[in-house]
Amino acid sequence: MSETPPLKRLYIKTYGCQMNVYDSERMADVLAPLGYGMTDAPEEADLVVLNTCHIREKATEKVYSELGYIKQMKQARAEAGATMTIAVAGCVAQAEGQEIMRRQPAVDLVVGPQAYHQLPELIARTHRARGERLAADFAADEKFDALPTARRPTGVTAFLTVQEGCDKFCTFCVVPYTRGGEWSRPADSILAEARGLAEQGVREITLLGQNVNAYDGAEGGLAGLVRALALIEGLDRIRYTTSHPRDMDEALIAAHAQVEALMPYLHLPVQSGSDKILKAMNRQHTAESYLRQIEKVRAARPDIAISGDFIVGFPGERESDFEATLSLIRQVGYASAFTFKYSRRPGTPASAMPGQIDEAVKDERLARLNALLEDQQKAFNAQQVGKVLPVLVERLGRHDGQLSGRSPYLQAVHMDGPAHLVGQIVPVRIEASARMSLSGQIQLETA
Ligand code: 5AD
Ligand code: SF4
Repeated sequence: MSETPPLKRLYIKTYGCQMNVYDSERMADVLAPLGYGMTDAPEEADLVVLNTCHIREKATEKVYSELGYIKQMKQARAEAGATMTIAVAGCVAQAEGQEIMRRQPAVDLVVGPQAYHQLPELIARTHRARGERLAADFAADEKFDALPTARRPTGVTAFLTVQEGCDKFCTFCVVPYTRGGEWSRPADSILAEARGLAEQGVREITLLGQNVNAYDGAEGGLAGLVRALALIEGLDRIRYTTSHPRDMDEALIAAHAQVEALMPYLHLPVQSGSDKILKAMNRQHTAESYLRQIEKVRAARPDIAISGDFIVGFPGERESDFEATLSLIRQVGYASAFTFKYSRRPGTPASAMPGQIDEAVKDERLARLNALLEDQQKAFNAQQVGKVLPVLVERLGRHDGQLSGRSPYLQAVHMDGPAHLVGQIVPVRIEASARMSLSGQIQLETA
C-alpha cells in the first residue's frame, strides 16, 4: 500500500443564505488537509455534507427527503465495496440535533453551525473507527483560530465572516436561537485573512454577518474595519451584508461617502412598512426612522443601490398594512430585493400570534409586492444604460469570447472580451439592461 492515501471525494450541498455558502467553502478548506477534494457527483462521494438552513418552512422535511436519496447512494456504494460518510451541518443540524440520526440512521455525523471546525476531527474519528487511514489528523479548538490561515479562494471575489449571531429577536425569526448571540471576530484575524485572499488575487470581499453592522471587533466598529481593509493592496472592493437598521450608525454612513473601496450598495432589510406590524415583529424601528436612514445614506452616497428583505402575511397584517409596505417601497426605490411569505417557525413568538394570514392572501400580496419591486429593479438597471461603469470581471461568460462581471451596484454585467481580463476592473459602456443583468462593451484605452 502506498504511503499517501488516495484522494477522497467530498460533495457538499448548500442550502440557504450566504453565510452557509461561506461555511461550505470553509468546510471544504478544513477537509482538504485530510485528503478531500470536491466532486459535483454525490454518488461518487466518500463524504456527503448537507449544509442546511432552517429559515424557511419545511426546510427540515426537505433535508430528510434528500437524506433518503443519499442513503440509497450510500447503499449502492456499499454494494460496490466502497463507503460513504453522511454529515448534516448547519441550522437544521443545530435545531434537530441527534434526532436526525434517529430518524435517518444512514447519517453518520451531525454538526451544528458553531462546530463545523470540528468536522475534520469527527470525520477522522469515523475513518479510524472503520480502520481507514487518513492523510492527516486534525486538532481543532477555537472556531476561527482552528481554521487554516491559508485559504484557496475560488475566484476574484470572496466572502469573509466577521460577525455571527443575533440579539434582535425579531418575533418571526429562528436565527437568535440557532446561531446564538452577537459575536464579532477580532479585527487582526480578519485583516490577516483578507491580506491572504488579496495575495491570491481576490479583488472584492463581502463581509458577512447576520447583523454585520453590529460588528464591534475593531475600533470604530464596522466602519473602522472597512477603513482598515481598504488599505490592503489589491483589495479594491468591499461589501457587507446583512445590516439591521438599528445598527446603521453615522460612522458607517460616513464611510460610504469617504471610502472609495466601499461599494455603493446597501442591503438594509425593512420587512414591512407598517408601524403596527414592525412593532409586532419587534423590529425596533419604524417606517419613518428607516426612511430617515435611507435619506442619510443617500446624502452620503447619492448613487447608492438599496436592497431589502420584505415579509408579507405576518400575523395581523391587514390590507392597509400591506399598502403601507408598498408605499414605503415607492418612497425608497429599491435596486434589488428578497421577498418572503411569512412562514410559521415553531418556537418563535409570531408562530403563536393570533391573526395568521391565509395562504391565498399571502400569495396575492406577494405577487403585488414582487411586481412593484421588479419594476423598480428594471428601472434601476435601465438608469445605467449609456453610462460607463467600472466592472470587476469575475469569470468567462457562457458563450465563447464572453466575460461576466459585476458593476459597483452588484449588477451582473455581460460583455465580450479576452479571458486575460478576468480579475481586472474594466470600464464598460452599458448598452442594454434587463431585470437581472446589464450588457455592454469594454472601453479600450480612452473612450
Ligand atoms: N418567514 C418569512 N420570512 C422570514 N425571514 C426570516 N424568517 C422568516 C419567516 N419566519 C426572512 C426575513 C429575513 C430573511 C433572511 O429571511 O426577511 O430578513
Ligand atoms: Fe432574524 Fe431579526 Fe436577527 Fe435578522 S435581525 S437575524 S431577521 S432576528
